[in-house]
Amino acid sequence: MYLMKDITRDGDPVLRKRAAKVQFPLSEADQQLAHDLMQYLVISQDEEENKKYKLRPGVGLAAPQVGVSECMAAVLVPGPDDTILFQETLINPVIISNSVQDAALSEGEGCLSVDKDIEGYVVRHDRITIRYQNLEGETKKVRLKNYAAIVCQHEIDHLNGILFYDHINKKTPFKMTPEGVLID
Ligand code: NI
Repeated sequence: MYLMKDITRDGDPVLRKRAAKVQFPLSEADQQLAHDLMQYLVISQDEEENKKYKLRPGVGLAAPQVGVSECMAAVLVPGPDDTILFQETLINPVIISNSVQDAALSEGEGCLSVDKDIEGYVVRHDRITIRYQNLEGETKKVRLKNYAAIVCQHEIDHLNGILFYDHINKKTPFKMTPEGVLID
């Protein structure tokens, strides 16, 4: 399993590389990777279990963040009252369409690979449709909105060497586009 020491941090060139496409059927190493990425998220969000491991809670973890430059990311987006809004291992994901409307988290974004807080609105699309392959290699298409859409855009960015703060307006970090919505 992955611990904080295994997470690559900003400055590591792997975080700025375009990740390679994953081939099917998944190799044993890739199956293990998929398992471990999701396991990190599950444990990190479980307060009791996480007392042992002291993981920084995360809702998404991409392979480059554990030093593997491959197009794979786990997402586990919690909803209200212990529900799960979206949980999936995204393999070779791409955004195939997006809303014109923008959205940003009112609190800004964080990243397991970025140790310092960087304030500002990370302006993204409010709604996206993504296409990806699941662990079985089946092609899936899913439409996401608001928080889940933002999490997936953050993770897909990781596969393209982009970090969240790249999207923050340098001069006016709390600038939102005219029609954009803020998500609490
Ligand atoms: Ni991140």
